[in-house]
Amino acid sequence: EKEKTFAMIKPDGVYGNYSDKIKAIIMDSGFSIKRELRVQLDEDTVRSFYAEHSSKSFFPSLVKYMTSGPILVMILEKDNAVADWRKLIGPTDAEKAKVTHPQSIRAMCGLNTEKNCVHGSHSIQSASREMSFFF
Ligand code: CMP
Repeated sequence: EKEKTFAMIKPDGVYGNYSDKIKAIIMDSGFSIKRELRVQLDEDTVRSFYAEHSSKSFFPSLVKYMTSGPILVMILEKDNAVADWRKLIGPTDAEKAKVTHPQSIRAMCGLNTEKNCVHGSHSIQSASREMSFFF
């Protein structure tokens, strides 16, 4: 069976009308989109999804950002899906991504370290947790 990973288009990506463009890149890169859901997160859901970051100084700002508008969550499938999706989105800091990974999704639609347009699971374990969180 092919590997699955969890992908998210964050509020800035949805608001900036990047959803269709990102989905086209996903499919052109050999992933199939197995599930897809548009949701508006509330604060408690963001706190729970990003629990590992709860002690970070940027956490309150992250909660505010992630509740600022609807997001699109997806399950993607292909061989090596976790690593390949991470590679496609590029580094966390979208500003740096524009310089070091100009072809990446974050370079295309992200703004900075926080408003970075998309999310991808870091590992098989986090992919499994994040997929069952939403689906
Ligand atoms: P993501 O990869 O989804 O995981 C945690 C999120 O927290 C990250 O993307 C950013 O949106 C945000 N984030 C990470 N580091 C910082 C930071 N230094 N300052 C502000 N936001 C951050």
